[in-house]
Amino acid sequence: MALAEETKRIAAQFEYTDEDVNKGVQEFLRQMNEGLQHDGTSMSQIPTYVTGVPNGTEKGLYLAVDLGGTNFRVCSIHLNGDTTFNLTYSKIAIPKELMVAEQASDLFGFLAKQIELFLRTHHEDHFAAHVRRRQTVSTPEGYRDEQIFRLGFTFSFPVRQVGINKGTLMRWTKGFDIPDAVGKDVCALLQQEIDRLHLPVKVAALVNDTVGTLMARSYTSPGKTSTLLGAIFGTGTNGAYVEKITNIKKPVEGDYDKTTGLMVINTEWGSFDNQLNVLPNTSYDIELDQKSVNPGIQIFEKRVSGMFLGEIVRLVVVDMLKNPAISLFKDENSSHNDWKSTTTIGEGSGIFQQWGLDSSLMSIAAADSTPDQSSLRQELEKQLNIYAASLEDAQAFRTVANAVGRRAARLSAVALGAVVLQSGKLQEASDEPIDIGVDGSLVEHYPFFRDMIYEALAAVDGIGPDGAKRIRIGIAKDGSGVGAALIALVAANMEKKGVVDYLNYIKNDVAQKWAATIPEAGESTTIA
Ligand code: BGC
Repeated sequence: MALAEETKRIAAQFEYTDEDVNKGVQEFLRQMNEGLQHDGTSMSQIPTYVTGVPNGTEKGLYLAVDLGGTNFRVCSIHLNGDTTFNLTYSKIAIPKELMVAEQASDLFGFLAKQIELFLRTHHEDHFAAHVRRRQTVSTPEGYRDEQIFRLGFTFSFPVRQVGINKGTLMRWTKGFDIPDAVGKDVCALLQQEIDRLHLPVKVAALVNDTVGTLMARSYTSPGKTSTLLGAIFGTGTNGAYVEKITNIKKPVEGDYDKTTGLMVINTEWGSFDNQLNVLPNTSYDIELDQKSVNPGIQIFEKRVSGMFLGEIVRLVVVDMLKNPAISLFKDENSSHNDWKSTTTIGEGSGIFQQWGLDSSLMSIAAADSTPDQSSLRQELEKQLNIYAASLEDAQAFRTVANAVGRRAARLSAVALGAVVLQSGKLQEASDEPIDIGVDGSLVEHYPFFRDMIYEALAAVDGIGPDGAKRIRIGIAKDGSGVGAALIALVAANMEKKGVVDYLNYIKNDVAQKWAATIPEAGESTTIA
C-alpha cells in the first residue's frame, strides 16, 4: 500500500494541467516571436531559405543520408513524379565513441564509409561504371558531372544555414559532443571524407530533419491543403513551419526569392524556455540536466524526447529504490510476491547506469493494460535484468512511466498549438484541415501519444475542441530522407539552369496560399 501511495505522490509531480498547457502556449508564442526579432534567443528560429514546397511532380534518383540521433541512415530515393516514390534504405547504429570523438573527421569518415558500402550493395552497377569511367576521364576529379550522385544531407542539429549545401554547426545536441566540428561547415566536412574515398557523390543539399519532414509531407499530400509544420518527436524534438517573411524581423542575409512571401523556419524548439520561465522542473529533471553533456540547454527537449524520457523514469525508480519504506523491486519473502518468488535486480542492470533505461520500455508499459502486467514484467526482466518483479512493482513502474509519457505528450501539444495559432489558419473561414507531418520513434511507437496531444490541444484557448478537430497530424515516415532528396533535386535543377544562388531559385505557387493567412508578428491571433 505504501508503494502505491508513494507512487501516486511522485506521479503527481509530472501532472501538466490544462492551465499549464495554456501558459506554455503563451510563452511559446512569445519566444517564437522573440526568435524572429533577433539572434541569440533560446529558440533560434533559423531561416532556412526554403521559400516553397514541392507539389508532387518532382522526378529523379537521389541519395540521402540522415545523421540525427541514434542511427545513421543511408537511402536512395526514386521520385516518381506522381506524389509517389520508391525508397531503398539501410541503417546503422552510430558507435557511441564516435558521438564524442576527438576529431570531426572520425565521425564524418565513418559516415562516408557507410555511403560507400550502401552504393556497393544497392547500386553496384552504377558505382562500378563510375569507377571505370573515372579511370578513363581526364577531368581533375576524374568524373563527368552528370555521372555523380546528388546527395541530400539531413543533419539534425542546429545549423546556421548560408546556402543550399553550406551551413555551420551552432552546437551539438542529443549526446553528441565533438567540439572540433562546432563552427565548421558540415557539408564540407562530409564532402572531404567522401572525396578521400573517391566516391562519385556530391553533397548537394543540407537540410534539417524537420524541414525534410515538411517537404516530404507536402510532396506526398498535395492538393488544396498545404502542410504547415513538420515536426520530429524521436530521439530529439524540433519543428519547422511556414512563416510569413514580413514576420521575420531579424536580418536574413543574402538574396532569396520573395515572391511567395513565405519562408520555412527551423524553430529549434528543443531549446524552448531554456530559462525555465514556464516549463515544469522536478528534482529528476534537474538531475538529468546537470548530468547531461549540455547542461542548461535543450531544456524542452529534455522533457519531451525519446532520448531523455527513459532516463527521467530511471532517476525516479532509483530514488524509489533508496526508500526502505516502500520496497520497490524487493520482497521480504516469497509470500509477498504474487508469483511466489522474490524479486532480484541482476548485476549490471541498466537501472543503475545513466541512460540504462530505454524509452521503448515506457511504450511497453503504456501498452500493457493486462491485469497481471505480464508483458511489462517480462520486459523488465529482459531489458533491465529485474527478475520476478511483483504485480505491485510493475504497476508502480507503469504509473511513473505513464506520468512521464503523458507530460511529454502534453508539452508537445504546447509546441504544435502555438505554431497553429501563430499561423492564423484557424481564423480562416474554411473547414480545410490544418496539416502537420510528424516523424520519430515516440510519435510512431508510444501508444496514444497523438491522442494525448489532441486532448491537450482541445484545451488550448483559441483552439478548443472544434479547432483541434481541424488539425490533422499525420505520420511522414522517413520524411527527412525523402525531403533531403527533394532538396537535392532542387539543387541539381539549379545547377542545370546555371543558378548559382538557390535562394533565388526555389519558388512554388502552392505556397502562395499561405501568404494571406499568417498574421504579422505581434498582430493579435485568437488567443486571449
Ligand atoms: C536538434 C534538431 C533536430 C531535432 C530532431 C534536436 O536535438 O537540435 O536540429 O531537428 O533534434 O532530430
